[in-house]
Amino acid sequence: MKADIENRADIITLVNAFYQKVQQNLTIGPIFTEVVQVDWSHHLPKMYDFWESILFGKAIYKGNPMLTHFAVNQKASLKQEEFNTWKLIFFNTVDELFEGENAQIIKQKAQSIADLMHFKINNAEAKIKIV
Ligand code: HEM
Repeated sequence: MKADIENRADIITLVNAFYQKVQQNLTIGPIFTEVVQVDWSHHLPKMYDFWESILFGKAIYKGNPMLTHFAVNQKASLKQEEFNTWKLIFFNTVDELFEGENAQIIKQKAQSIADLMHFKINNAEAKIKIV
């Protein structure tokens, strides 16, 4: 039986495994490696803080993911296929490594943030078209 996500060390394991897969993915990998050319030494610790804040309620992440993704969307279109791919990789990575209550919660949180992000990006685009 796999263990649940209990602490920051587990978050680090999850986030590292997730971005290993993301980098190899043909749909969203190039957005990170070629379009935005993410500085991983900066991005990964930010993502440890983000998920620790979300899952354990520690207010250590300071940032605005929505604004960041509006900016990403200007350079590489973030649509259904990209969000579905992101979610599938995230869920698969969680399931490969962990099981339990927190593993379920982090997938639900990821799902709702991803769906909200997708909605806001599309809604902003719709407004721009109307104006
Ligand atoms: C289509 C799916 C997605 C793509 C292609 C994507 C891509 C990216 C990229 C390229 C960055 C780095 C931006 C930069 O350094 O300038 C980033 C940052 C980030 N992403 Fe995503 N992302 C996606 C979905 C998500 C989702 C669903 C979440 C949350 C559940 C998320 C959370 C974050 C966070 C917290 C940051 C750091 C924001 C900051 O404080 O600067 N991303 N993303």
